[in-house]
Amino acid sequence: MTAVGIDAMEIWTGKLKLDLAETFAPAQGDDPGKYTKGLGLHASSFPDVHEDIVTMAANAAHRLMERKGLEPADIGRIDVATESSFDNSKPVSTYVAGCLEKVYDGDFHHANKGERKFACIAGTQSLDDAYNWIRAGRNRGRAAIVIATDTALYARDDPGEATQGAGAVAMLVAEDPDLVELSPEQGFGSADETDFLKPNQQFPSVDGKRSVNVYLARMREALDDFASVAGEIHPEDYPLIPFHTPFPGMVRKAAALGYRHIIRDTEIEDELAEEIGYQPVPEAFDSDDEFYEAIREYTDALTETERYQAWYAETIDPTLELSRHVGNWYTGSVHIARAAGLKHAREHGRDLDGRQLLVASYGSGAQAEVHAETVVPGWEDEIAQLNVDEQVRRRYELSFEEYEQIHDVHNHDAEADADSLTEPSAEFVFDGWGRMGERTYKYID
Ligand code: HMG
Repeated sequence: MTAVGIDAMEIWTGKLKLDLAETFAPAQGDDPGKYTKGLGLHASSFPDVHEDIVTMAANAAHRLMERKGLEPADIGRIDVATESSFDNSKPVSTYVAGCLEKVYDGDFHHANKGERKFACIAGTQSLDDAYNWIRAGRNRGRAAIVIATDTALYARDDPGEATQGAGAVAMLVAEDPDLVELSPEQGFGSADETDFLKPNQQFPSVDGKRSVNVYLARMREALDDFASVAGEIHPEDYPLIPFHTPFPGMVRKAAALGYRHIIRDTEIEDELAEEIGYQPVPEAFDSDDEFYEAIREYTDALTETERYQAWYAETIDPTLELSRHVGNWYTGSVHIARAAGLKHAREHGRDLDGRQLLVASYGSGAQAEVHAETVVPGWEDEIAQLNVDEQVRRRYELSFEEYEQIHDVHNHDAEADADSLTEPSAEFVFDGWGRMGERTYKYID
């Protein structure tokens, strides 16, 4: 079976930065520790006035095509995943193709284009679509460009406001990939939930605390389902486990739950039992509440053990390094977690050739998906091409007043206007409105 997976990726962050501890916390009257320690977030990325989901997506895809020496004729599919779309009919991928056609001689007239929606998990679903298309033999030797792009804004003073972010991840999906090969096995945990939704509105209605529990419940189901097809999962078999990361504190909870769940009835549980006992079982308790309390206590003790902490530091923490500084990118979030983990592994000389990553995606509403990816020898050369650190460093730092203005500029109902805070260069920019209310774009050299 020919290997199919991610051949290369590029990341484009929104060009503005809001520092949560220095700028946001004082304005909200909050202790900065709530953000930096509690949520695990230091800063958010925001789009400048001339940026939006199309420009970020097109700029990431353009970098990807240039770096891989691709022409439009090499691409048979452009899939965009987003939950920040501004059009209920015309997909973002058509705008992205239109942008790219401004800088290439050829066109994408024979490429299939679409837009995927299922909250944050849509990015992974688009990867699946591209994978299935190639596996089905319908690609005529061409590759797919999959882009996850979002401007994750919440209403002002919503508890989610601190978790905002904006950016795009473009991935080239192809045969014989240079980065990771996707596994055919998948596990799903999916249920009709109303924890986070946008019923014909730009900003989400969120039941924040419940959304955390729904994430954990669906993720647990997906892990069980994955184990039922892929065989028993051993947490220490995977050098990196990238999770969907709305904020790093969420992944801290998911990792503890996942680890506890996976080690049940294994030699790891036996070895840890000397220190913290065995996991509580429901039959030993008179009520659910007592059982849940005992599980909470066991999980707290587990996360204090040396074995767990060493596993977390090596397997989970590196995947959070980008997210801490850019916030939630919704559909792109699990993909920047993968990139951050691989970047860290390269910088620390870890040998991941042939090793498997366990990738845990999630979208509210709600669905979790777990699959494995095999790291392809030579992966370091691909990851070395990312310039995301430089992009993150170069962002313009917003004052609180500028943040308020930028939030209004991107609020579809606010009709605010402002000048860009950064000077566009060698990038696609938002240019105004066309005769049918469409957004228009141009390339600035
Ligand atoms: P909140 O009420 O602002 O924060 O909402 P909190 O009071 O719960 O505090 C957060 C954490 O900081 C807590 O830690 C506090 O103890 C701690 P925890 O108990 O959870 O471990 N804390 C402090 N720590 C140190 N020093 C301090 C301090 N103060 C407090 N001084 C909430 C938090 C997540 C509810 C909010 O941010 C929210 O509504 N976010 C949006 C929804 C969300 O991100 N949900 C995550 C799961 S759903 C998901 O991932 C899908 C999503 O990406 C959308 C999609 O799929 O499309 C969102």
